[in-house]
Amino acid sequence: DATDKGEFRHYMMKEIYEQSSVISACLEGRISETKVLTSCFGAESEFLKDIENVHIVACGTSYHAGMVAKYWIEDLAGIPCSVEVASEYRYRKVAVPKKTLFLTLSQSGETADTLAALRMAKELGYLTTLAICNVPSSTLVRESALTLLTNAGPEIGVASTKAFTTQLTALLITSVAIAVENGLSAEKEQELVQAMRSLPAYINDALAQDAHIKVIADRFANKHNALFLGRGTMFPIALEGSLKLKEISYIHAEAYPAGELKHGPLALVDEDMPIIALVPHNDMLDKLKSNLQEVAARGGELYVFADKETDLHNEDNIVFTEVPKVDRILEPIVHTIPLQLLSYHVAVVKGTDVDQPRNLAKSVTVE
Ligand code: G6P
Repeated sequence: DATDKGEFRHYMMKEIYEQSSVISACLEGRISETKVLTSCFGAESEFLKDIENVHIVACGTSYHAGMVAKYWIEDLAGIPCSVEVASEYRYRKVAVPKKTLFLTLSQSGETADTLAALRMAKELGYLTTLAICNVPSSTLVRESALTLLTNAGPEIGVASTKAFTTQLTALLITSVAIAVENGLSAEKEQELVQAMRSLPAYINDALAQDAHIKVIADRFANKHNALFLGRGTMFPIALEGSLKLKEISYIHAEAYPAGELKHGPLALVDEDMPIIALVPHNDMLDKLKSNLQEVAARGGELYVFADKETDLHNEDNIVFTEVPKVDRILEPIVHTIPLQLLSYHVAVVKGTDVDQPRNLAKSVTVE
């Protein structure tokens, strides 16, 4: 029952812990052992063949999911993808290339700016409109030509958690489906589908760090600022981690692509500034490690979220949290979990209203 917190103190924590099962629900019927089942987009999945461009429009946490999808779509399908917040998109003149898919992301399907963007897009000659949404009866679903539901179940905590990771899952399905029409090999498709199948188990592995993260959260409670760093798909996850911390613990947090450190944020680094670095073991590891050295050299306190293969561990100025080593495509989804737990525990230490943060609404239905 969605309105029952069960063993949890807050809906947010309940929803964090539901992620493994709702991600399974999101994958259910959408992938076989070897393939993405394009029937999940409805009878008209023909559109996948025609897509030459993708425009993604969303707000808040959903926008961060869209930012991850840009990396996936361009990487796997090799077709251009742009991502924009709906409140900007709707008030400018948008140039729409031929055969562009208009893709909205929304937990509620009722966000005023996202709906206005969809209504505008319908006048602009897009190939078609696809909504990735959590609420089947929502306005966004009703007004879009195609829908892929995230199947996360009702999300009650204002700070979005399971809606985000299921959006990412649905976006991964969509990215692979588009990629298959753009030359992705059957072998690679099977590899990606198998990675998706292992996702629920990895989410549980990530959740196993909860007690450890609770301990490190104590050290954050008296901080006024925090800086999140990541590269590649970890950059939008850094943005999402910083948004979660702001939303529920009221600590000012910023996120930067780690390669931008020298262009400004390094000036903020001192012993009072915790730096949260997302460090999966991939081809950007050495670059990221050198970014971390720059931070350490300036006395910054580093909180590193990394898998064991990175060879990073606790040191004088490094607090290490282990994240499961996963297929590269899954990194943004799995790395989200510890950041949700961190913001949750910091908020609990600070005594804020975790499920109903001040000044915020679950769904922004008026501009
Ligand atoms: C509000 C919520 C966020 C959400 C955003 C977009 O700001 O507090 O959690 O990400 O709206 O909402 P949507 O329902 O369109 O995903």
